[in-house]
Amino acid sequence: MNLVRAIYPGSFDPLTNGHLDLIERGSKIFDELIVAVLRNTEKDPLFTVSERLQMLEQMVRQYENVRVEAFEGLLVDYAMRKKAKAVLRGIRAISDYEYELQMALMNRKLEPQLETVFMMPAETYSYLSSRLVKEVFRLGGSVRGLVPEVVEQRLREKFHGSTIKNSS
Ligand code: PNS
Repeated sequence: MNLVRAIYPGSFDPLTNGHLDLIERGSKIFDELIVAVLRNTEKDPLFTVSERLQMLEQMVRQYENVRVEAFEGLLVDYAMRKKAKAVLRGIRAISDYEYELQMALMNRKLEPQLETVFMMPAETYSYLSSRLVKEVFRLGGSVRGLVPEVVEQRLREKFHGSTIKNSS
């Protein structure tokens, strides 16, 4: 029997509950799911790749068929090396569609064998993004319920250099 392996690529800076929702959905329809963190030298990330991998690893431990890796270069090349058949991406709203369609079609042009599969996260997370989480947290807002506890803790350490639990 042919196992279907999929790649869920992204920046995950940081991981949100929306990402986790998609990972859970992906783990149910694919035999194997690799969550792949892009090593992007152009962006100025908040968390290092190894910090992002650590947080992801902690959160996907509960899924037997999910693992976490970092990748660089073209996604299609990485996916082919991994013998993956599909790329999983989340679409939250129409505004995501244009960018996602462009990427999916470019990836298809580069590697026609690789399919992109779009899934929608729970509507509770339809407005959620890593960028907004960072902004809200930096400006003193609460991100409780939007990111896993471990991410909230790491955000606190990054921005306030503190490991004391914030009760607000
Ligand atoms: O979470 P993000 O930042 O929206 O993820 C974007 C990502 C990592 C999926 C995309 O930038 C990517 O695949 N980069 C790898 C380089 C590549 O293949 N570029 C061509 C994409 S059409």
